[in-house]
Amino acid sequence: MAGLFITSTGTGIGKTFVTAGLIEYLRSQGRKVNAFKPVISGFDPRAADDSDTGILLSAMGRPLNDAEIERISPWRFAAPLSPDMAAAREKRVLDFDALIAFSQSAMASPGDFTLIEGVGGVMVPLDRTHTILDWIKALDIPVLLVAGSYLGAISHTLSAVAVLRQNGCSLETIVVSETAGSGVSLDDTAGTISRFARNVGIVAVPRATNTTTNESPFGLIAESCGLI
Ligand SMILES: Nc1ncnc2c1ncn2[C@@H]1O[C@H](COP(=O)(O)OP(=O)(O)O)[C@@H](O)[C@H]1O
Ligand SMILES: [Mg+2]
Repeated sequence: MAGLFITSTGTGIGKTFVTAGLIEYLRSQGRKVNAFKPVISGFDPRAADDSDTGILLSAMGRPLNDAEIERISPWRFAAPLSPDMAAAREKRVLDFDALIAFSQSAMASPGDFTLIEGVGGVMVPLDRTHTILDWIKALDIPVLLVAGSYLGAISHTLSAVAVLRQNGCSLETIVVSETAGSGVSLDDTAGTISRFARNVGIVAVPRATNTTTNESPFGLIAESCGLI
């Protein structure tokens, strides 16, 4: 089954927004999508509906209950920190090999596609020695990179692109999700990223985009990632 890893240049950029939009779009086209957020920090069980896990479950049309939360997000940490630090606060260590095994079995779940949302950006530490990049490399899975349109986003994005490419990752598409209140043009940002990144699909997503209409950029994202 086709898998896609959704990573980003940092946190709060739009990974969950784009993943949920893709799920809703693909479901509206009659596809079965499995989405996972295997590692989540800053997780408060009393506000699970607002968490990435809750948002992805809702997009999949799944109930929000303990079993579903455990099924898609087995590694949950309370502190809103990178996973290594958040785990340390709870005197825990994220087991990287178990995370890879979990992700591989997630990719084998029945359905048309598996989407895996990472944590923060490409170089976020998971434990003492592994980052998100190591997770992507171990899975050997196509990557969707979500970027913003704030001042500085171009350099952050091209740095992430360079790291992914230098490490042999297959970068399918860059989504530029418009940053709220940014004075920088979304289209100029996407155009500049496209000019420097070369040979990669670029889709710009304006704020407050409807996910299932024909004009939806999520259809373009799905096409650019080879999902439809
Ligand atoms: N293109 C967009 N239009 C509207 N809201 C967006 C867009 N991109 C991101 N957001 C919002 O910005 C916030 C951070 O995005 P989120 O997807 O949670 O980031 P990440 O998963 O990368 O941490 C969320 O409230 C999300 O809904
Ligand atoms: Mg998220």
